[in-house]
Amino acid sequence: MSKQEKKLFIQTLGCQMNDTDSQHMIAELKEHKNYTTTQNIEEADLILINTCSVREKPVSKLFSEIGQFNVKKKKSAKIGVCGCTASHLGHDIIKRAPYVDFVLGARNISKIKDIVDKKGAVEIDIDYDDSTYQFAQNSNNLYKTSVNISIGCDKECTYCIVPATRGDEISIPPEMIIEQIKKDVDKGAKEVTLLGQNVNSYGRRFSDKREKTTFTKLLQEVSKIEGLQRIRFTSPHPLHMDDEFIEEFAKNPKISKCIHMPLQSGSTKILKAMKRGYTKEWFLNRARKIRDMVPDVRITTDIIVAFPGETQEDFEDTIDVIKQVKFDQIFNFKYSPRPNTAALKLKDLEIADEIGTKRLMEVIELHKQHQSELMDKNVGKTVTVLFESLKPNGEVAGFTDNYCQVFVKGSDELLGRFVDVKVTNATRTALKGEVVDK
Ligand code: 5AD
Ligand code: SF4
Repeated sequence: MSKQEKKLFIQTLGCQMNDTDSQHMIAELKEHKNYTTTQNIEEADLILINTCSVREKPVSKLFSEIGQFNVKKKKSAKIGVCGCTASHLGHDIIKRAPYVDFVLGARNISKIKDIVDKKGAVEIDIDYDDSTYQFAQNSNNLYKTSVNISIGCDKECTYCIVPATRGDEISIPPEMIIEQIKKDVDKGAKEVTLLGQNVNSYGRRFSDKREKTTFTKLLQEVSKIEGLQRIRFTSPHPLHMDDEFIEEFAKNPKISKCIHMPLQSGSTKILKAMKRGYTKEWFLNRARKIRDMVPDVRITTDIIVAFPGETQEDFEDTIDVIKQVKFDQIFNFKYSPRPNTAALKLKDLEIADEIGTKRLMEVIELHKQHQSELMDKNVGKTVTVLFESLKPNGEVAGFTDNYCQVFVKGSDELLGRFVDVKVTNATRTALKGEVVDK
């Protein structure tokens, strides 16, 4: 007897880990519970919201959002709250919003097929180990895939709620990672993104007893996969960017030449208060080495302004690093006090909101100048692009090897191919060009 097909509406907030978690939940529910996705909340039988708790804003939006879901949904439809806010608020979610059917923490995603039928269930165990769980497969992009290489995070950055929502770090066995990527490549993937909260600390702890390994070794193994043409990873930690790793990044032709180096602050004093484990000088040394060894590299970063105790002088250090490194992209944040974090103890040193806003604006303005300067340098160059999507305006979009977005006029015959493009135009965030070789 064929089971009746049901509809799933899923909303995903937060980081790329959350995107992958959502893909896993979609696949599990499809395989085991006969759900297919819908964009129309009114026809959904199940509504999932995969939440982020890294800053306060998305958390406060959660309750108004699920309230709206509750108004729009079919009477029989269930609502599940998943992800990091589910981990940190747990039972309180159902207390505050009793129409929520279940709560599933970020570390418990593999339990989705069971919890979905348990009214009132709350699964938020942050010690739960699903590092060897074989998820059903689902993909939303034919040419790109993302594979988790670890779960959790062992760092103790004093501002960050993630260790409290995702638990300790456990690496996924390399053979599982390789097998997964091979399967995706067989289905047409050309590019993989290796995902973890702290990818370059990979290989220190597995759920079984086995020899330790390193992220550099994993990169070497992954790059042996035939048919796989581009490897990306996020997020690495600047502290673990040793020479061996940087050399592999520079010389391995399959590795995309775009690297995320989350600076957070340019002040050694603040970095210490954040427990980041490196100094301003170490960061600059690593960035310089990468720029020297990889001429076209794009470097992206995360910056938090107005961490408690950040003086004008500390902030000037951040500006100084931005000026020296000239990041290709900056994700800026104003410090947001989070529950279960050590920085809460620094409450007395918190910075006035207007100062935080002013500092944020200064970073944004400086970065805009750098972005224009860096992007303009591409005009006239020929770059290789992996095309991945057709746009409604007839353009085809893809990314260069250093992960800059490019648009050209063209058709679906470009999709899934690496094609040379002459750049004719640059904005701060993307390039336009013409195909020079088909
Ligand atoms: N306040 C502001 N930004 C934060 N981030 C993490 N925690 C906080 C916080 N409490 C930022 C960091 C991190 C990115 C994912 O989010 O810059 O790298
Ligand atoms: Fe991702 Fe962190 Fe947000 Fe969780 S809290 S979704 S790990 S960014």
